[in-house]
Amino acid sequence: MNLITLAIETSCDETSVAVLEDGRKVLSNIIASQINLHKKFGGVVPEVASRKHIEKIDIVIQEALDEANVNFEDIDIIGTTYGPGLVGALLVGLSSAKALAYSLEKPLVGVNHIEGHISANYIADLELKPPFLCLVVSGGHTHLAYVEDYGQYELLGKTRDDAAGEAFDKVARAMGLGYPGGPIIDKLAALGDYTAIDFPRAYLEAGSFDFSFSGLKSAVLNYLNTNKQKGIEINIENVAASFQKAVVDVLVDKTIKAAELKKVSTIALAGGVASNDGLRKQMEERCIKEGYKLIYPSKILCTDNAAMIGCAAYYNYLNGKISDLDLNGVPNLKLGE
Ligand code: KG4
Ligand code: ZN
Repeated sequence: MNLITLAIETSCDETSVAVLEDGRKVLSNIIASQINLHKKFGGVVPEVASRKHIEKIDIVIQEALDEANVNFEDIDIIGTTYGPGLVGALLVGLSSAKALAYSLEKPLVGVNHIEGHISANYIADLELKPPFLCLVVSGGHTHLAYVEDYGQYELLGKTRDDAAGEAFDKVARAMGLGYPGGPIIDKLAALGDYTAIDFPRAYLEAGSFDFSFSGLKSAVLNYLNTNKQKGIEINIENVAASFQKAVVDVLVDKTIKAAELKKVSTIALAGGVASNDGLRKQMEERCIKEGYKLIYPSKILCTDNAAMIGCAAYYNYLNGKISDLDLNGVPNLKLGE
């Protein structure tokens, strides 16, 4: 049976629509990014994001259908992100999805955005089956989740303050590097010496799988300010490399410890920061050394996109998790709710 899913993602600053066959085969995945629009503000402006989603959504839906070579009549499932995210932005995609589900008389399936990020791995590796462990690192989230089954998660730890991507963005901003900072720091880090500056690593209490990046962020800001006051020139590549290494060390160590605890054989990465070359490399090395299989999505599937939402919607549908048409946007939706 070939089930066709049309999925919509508008939780932040990407208007994205995808069409998938049987949940894991991507027929189209159109992403209209607003990054250039928000760059001049140094971050996403919620009101601007909502307005842009409204302008784009119908065009992107049509593009996704055209590229997949399907019509509205071919669609079996309508998937949509309903949280977490910016409420005004979420409502644009959610309202469009509801309108489609109502008019086409097809099931509406609400998807948690974080679950979407995790599900990108099912597209990346067609053999992947739960259980596995997933580190979700994005601009808004840092979660260590045990994926027990499709749609079933045990949250082992999360950030207590800044998300990993947020720390990258804030440090980059302090260094005057522009937005979003993650990819810029990643590139600079490759040219620097990560042993140059000994920034702190927050491991928290023994056995904790939570994260904290605000202390590290403050340490970098202090370093930059102190050197500026003293008139000492800063080696920007070394700062980037040392900061990135401090983030990656903690992410890798905690993920490996959690994998030991849950006795999984597979580790997956997800979210925008999963594109980070330093993280991918160090996680790969540790996984080879300790005997884990590592999976991560292509860069396009790490960033916000509707294909990952479509994949999660497909499994929700198979599990009978169909939403009512009064589904609302939930800006602070938690994983597993
Ligand atoms: O998953 P995503 O596209 O959006 C959210 O759901 O938040 O993640 C965006 C975040 C931004 O903070 C961005 O700086 C970060 O992912 N990012 C990276 C890299 N590429 C994107 N961080 C570190 N290294 C990268 N290569
Ligand atoms: Zn995201």
